[in-house]
Amino acid sequence: MYSLIRKAMFQLDPEKIHELTISTLKKTGKTPLNLLYKQSIATKPVEVMGINFPNPVGLAAGLDKNGECINAFAAMGFGFVEVGTVTPRPQPGNDKPRIFRLEQANAIINRMGFNNKGVDYLVNQVIKANFKGVLGINIGKNKDTSDENAKDDYIYCMRKVYNFASYITVNISSPNTPGLRSLQYGDALNELLTALKTEQANLATQYNKYVPIAVKIAPDLNEDEVNSIAQCLISNNIDGVIATNTTLSREGVEGLTHANEQGGLSGQPVKEKSTTVIKLLSKALEGKLPIIGVGGIASAADAKEKLAAGASLVQVYTGFIYQGPRLIKEIVKAL
Ligand SMILES: Cc1cc2nc3c(=O)[nH]c(=O)nc-3n(C[C@H](O)[C@H](O)[C@H](O)COP(=O)(O)O)c2cc1C
Repeated sequence: MYSLIRKAMFQLDPEKIHELTISTLKKTGKTPLNLLYKQSIATKPVEVMGINFPNPVGLAAGLDKNGECINAFAAMGFGFVEVGTVTPRPQPGNDKPRIFRLEQANAIINRMGFNNKGVDYLVNQVIKANFKGVLGINIGKNKDTSDENAKDDYIYCMRKVYNFASYITVNISSPNTPGLRSLQYGDALNELLTALKTEQANLATQYNKYVPIAVKIAPDLNEDEVNSIAQCLISNNIDGVIATNTTLSREGVEGLTHANEQGGLSGQPVKEKSTTVIKLLSKALEGKLPIIGVGGIASAADAKEKLAAGASLVQVYTGFIYQGPRLIKEIVKAL
């Protein structure tokens, strides 16, 4: 059935259809109309970062940026839902058009630029959802916050979301916010992670609960860079790492319509790059912290590949756009 719906949806502008889908899911998530997409999924429990996940397949960040459809995605059977990226203040993101489908490559290029309604709006949505499952909240910085003050934006969001998240993702790997990826390196990374861990300890005391921090990294890193990130994650006692975000590479889509659009490429063309980063991370981390694998998963075999590379959980975005909720069922069943 999704293939028919997809055929109709893919006739329309990608962002228009995204908005329509979000508003439909927002309205129906907690109503009997969720039968349209609700699925019963086998329980495949797994404990990661001290959290019990009903199954290891999650929704990746960026689809539900404002946390408006948490119950709808949970009804589809995701073992966890990650909302955001959210920033301290609302911001419009980049000029449209800013999402492009590359159908022949089962891929997407996006340069959204953290369009979102701000952290207060997201927290209100999370409260309204009253969701009892595993919820990740992915945080970032506003575009007009300078690189020197980036840390303050992450701390600000962390304080706001702490009491409502099962885990918090620190996104330092979007290619669409100038300067963001520079936070992945050297002193900048160490200073950011040290500040976040200090704040996490304060908040853990204040709320009497420990909320793990996961750091989300890019696929465009060489072995030395992955190794130094891994050492920094270990030395700062970070709880998990999400690998990976979208790529700036255009390998595998050369010559296709939209291939030269600026932004991050996701889906099938990022699959190998992301798996390579997971393998390198896995070697460098020696099991000291878990990896959440994301990038180009479009089948149970792809998910198994990420797990075999060293991931403990997986997330999907582009594969889910192309295949719909049945992808979740297919993966969970095969694990
Ligand atoms: C349109 C779009 C928007 C995205 N927005 C975000 C975001 O706000 N924050 C984030 O951490 N990742 C974001 N991502 C990246 C995805 O979460 C994921 O890491 C990446 O697309 C690779 O997985 P995939 O190949 O399954 O899509 C976005 C991806 C797409 C396609």
